[in-house]
Amino acid sequence: MSTTTYAVTGASGGLGHRVVTELLSRGVEPSAVIAVARTPEKIGDLADRGVQVRPGDYARPETLPTALVGADRVLLVSGTEIGRRVEQHAAVIEAARAHGVERILYTSILNADTTSNPVAPEHQATEQVLRTAGVPVTILRNGWYVENYTSQAPQYLATGEILGATGGGRISGAAREDYAVAAAVALLDDADGDHVYELGGPAFTFDDLAAAISSAMGTAVTHRDLPADEYRAALVGAGLDEQTAGFLAALDASIAGGDLATDSDDLARLLGREPTPLADAVRAQLA
Ligand SMILES: NC(=O)c1ccc[n+]([C@@H]2O[C@H](COP(=O)([O-])OP(=O)(O)OC[C@H]3O[C@@H](n4cnc5c(N)ncnc54)[C@H](OP(=O)(O)O)[C@@H]3O)[C@@H](O)[C@H]2O)c1
Repeated sequence: MSTTTYAVTGASGGLGHRVVTELLSRGVEPSAVIAVARTPEKIGDLADRGVQVRPGDYARPETLPTALVGADRVLLVSGTEIGRRVEQHAAVIEAARAHGVERILYTSILNADTTSNPVAPEHQATEQVLRTAGVPVTILRNGWYVENYTSQAPQYLATGEILGATGGGRISGAAREDYAVAAAVALLDDADGDHVYELGGPAFTFDDLAAAISSAMGTAVTHRDLPADEYRAALVGAGLDEQTAGFLAALDASIAGGDLATDSDDLARLLGREPTPLADAVRAQLA
């Protein structure tokens, strides 16, 4: 029986690295895993474990065919260079297609069909490239990471508040770890055909987030909701440039509209357990 070889791009990032270690912990031979990274020196630990670590930069398409030699299934982890990502992702998809891979998986955004999240257009365009690539696809429409908020905990604690314009909107966020494990499960899935997963954890509001952070830190943090215009002005007043402030206000408006909420249980089904509850994720991340 031939062994399936799994390639994970963006393997030097938090998500990709965790996908690789999850594959190993589920019994995949290290030699059957290709960890592709723009900065391979960051993942010496994976090379030490016998994983094939290879350089691959989405912005340098000439690096990608070599990076993906021998891969049967490719997880394309979305990049970080906003504004350049469609072209970059398309280069990875083309390299994978040219190798005749049996499946491409992609980390998209929750509710990609309808969302007005300001980061969504590049995901929507990448999904479109995938749909025309002629290769079976698995779209992992990831909701927000809880880490997007816990990474701002020092600022919340310094000001005593979480400022936003989400209007009580729900966020089906989950720990990045949960999305990574789900991606590994999807990579290992032998089912044919195309698959789209709407991935999110138990929904929370900014009030819930403030309560979870207060409890984890033993310091009261409150949530203050503002109209979007006032929120944008407050961010500019705090020193952000107009473009960043507008982006963050648009993000919260999208949350207010429900774009980052889902009632789908796809994440729980892939994990085979409930996603980590918000309070536990916050406590673990702020420990
Ligand atoms: N759903 C959410 O809440 C959320 C939050 C943050 C990010 N994201 C998206 O999900 C992706 C994975 O998340 P993460 O937590 O792993 O992000 P991360 O820790 O910031 O890692 C990003 C990864 O993308 C790689 N990358 C960026 N540009 C690249 C390029 N031109 N060629 C090859 N690799 C490139 C980085 O490589 P280097 O190590 O060389 O920099 C790194 O490995 C992110 O890239 C972003 O698209 C989603």
